[in-house]
Amino acid sequence: MQKKLAHNGDCMGKKIFFITSNAHKFSEAQKLLKKCGISIKRKNLHLEEVRAQECSEVAKACAIEAYKRIRKPLFVEDSGLFIKSLNGFPGVYSASVLQKIGLRGILALLKGKRRDAEFICAICYVDNSKLVQICKRCKGKISKMPSGRKGFGYDPIFVPQGGKLTFAQDEKTKAELSHRTAALKALCARLAKR
Ligand code: IMP
Repeated sequence: MQKKLAHNGDCMGKKIFFITSNAHKFSEAQKLLKKCGISIKRKNLHLEEVRAQECSEVAKACAIEAYKRIRKPLFVEDSGLFIKSLNGFPGVYSASVLQKIGLRGILALLKGKRRDAEFICAICYVDNSKLVQICKRCKGKISKMPSGRKGFGYDPIFVPQGGKLTFAQDEKTKAELSHRTAALKALCARLAKR
């Protein structure tokens, strides 16, 4: 086993691996965690995603598998877009649904339906002494048309609660209140605690 961390505060200033194949997710996490003194390194382990209904189950299973392989402090993030009137679709299938039907496909499914939605981000951190699970949400609505060029995935059709612009139009707002930002802030706080 790796040398035990003397206390959780040791995570500050230590390298933690973010296991992801998604460069956008990595870049968002790197910027935010740097502010709390945590530097991260990207590693893509090509983990097979488990079939589950919840992002937190996917993140936990992947983090445990990743820790078995590299035995270093790490976290995995699983996220998705959950649309209320579609019973949470595309949810944990967000990545593959986007590939198959695209943003236009989602907009077509929503014709005549309510557009309330939320992004969910689940993080699972593992080291030799603890497993930390975090799950955060960002509520909003699906726009009528895709707009904006920033961000990734569903950003061009997601308008956060109380806003008028999509995440792809307003990167600053995304950085302030996204599901990932909330989850990463909570991770910083947990790792800073003794
Ligand atoms: P996974 O976490 O790798 O399963 O992929 C989640 C998918 O959800 C991504 O590929 C995106 O399509 C979507 N998604 C997750 N977070 C965001 C976000 O912050 N903006 C836009 N789309 C997102």
